[in-house]
Amino acid sequence: MKITFYGHSALGIQIGNKHLMVDPFITANEKAAGIDISKLKADYILVTHAHQDHILDVEAIAKNTGAKVVSNYEIVTHFGQKGIEGHPMNHGGSWNFDFGKLKFVNAIHSSSFADGSYGGNPGGFVIETETKNIYLSGDTALSYDMKLIGEQTQLDLAILPVGDNFTMGVDDALKAAQFLNVNNVLGVHFDTFGYIVIDHEKAVEKFLDNGVKLHLLEIGESINI
Ligand code: NI
Ligand code: MN
Repeated sequence: MKITFYGHSALGIQIGNKHLMVDPFITANEKAAGIDISKLKADYILVTHAHQDHILDVEAIAKNTGAKVVSNYEIVTHFGQKGIEGHPMNHGGSWNFDFGKLKFVNAIHSSSFADGSYGGNPGGFVIETETKNIYLSGDTALSYDMKLIGEQTQLDLAILPVGDNFTMGVDDALKAAQFLNVNNVLGVHFDTFGYIVIDHEKAVEKFLDNGVKLHLLEIGESINI
């Protein structure tokens, strides 16, 4: 499995020959100016919630690639009205896709569209494949429910926000890793705006002191797990 960071919470996840795009917010992110969204591959676009910093480029990428949007019912309906195909889910539900099994799990956050309309409940995804299992929390606070995810799925990687202010910060993300029983974390939702700038070195060190590897990628950089 190859995971590429496109800035903020936007990721490309390659599983075999399938490409998943996650929360694409690229064209308005000055830090991601080097990423050309017309070149991105996607069979599916996973959307955690309706905030603009997670959905901005969904429509463009879906129309470019023919990718299917996978998200909560409200977000899938919203993009359905724009002629984009989707697969609606809700908390606790799983579905077997051609890349693996996806479970939509809860997140503690909010989820409105840019115009204030209702975007359903925010969520995260547990992705189980033949080789690796990952948890993508989306924007969320730390929650004790994360223990359940670690109990149900042997995780190889957790993708967690670390920027604080709008989501968990570094300390709570480390606690989340411990709840999840995972020793590899990919940090997202940091440095994009003034409120969420973090000290990379300190964050990585704090994780390492607790036996957890925190990956903070450059935009465009990938890791293989
Ligand atoms: Ni958000
Ligand atoms: Mn966000």
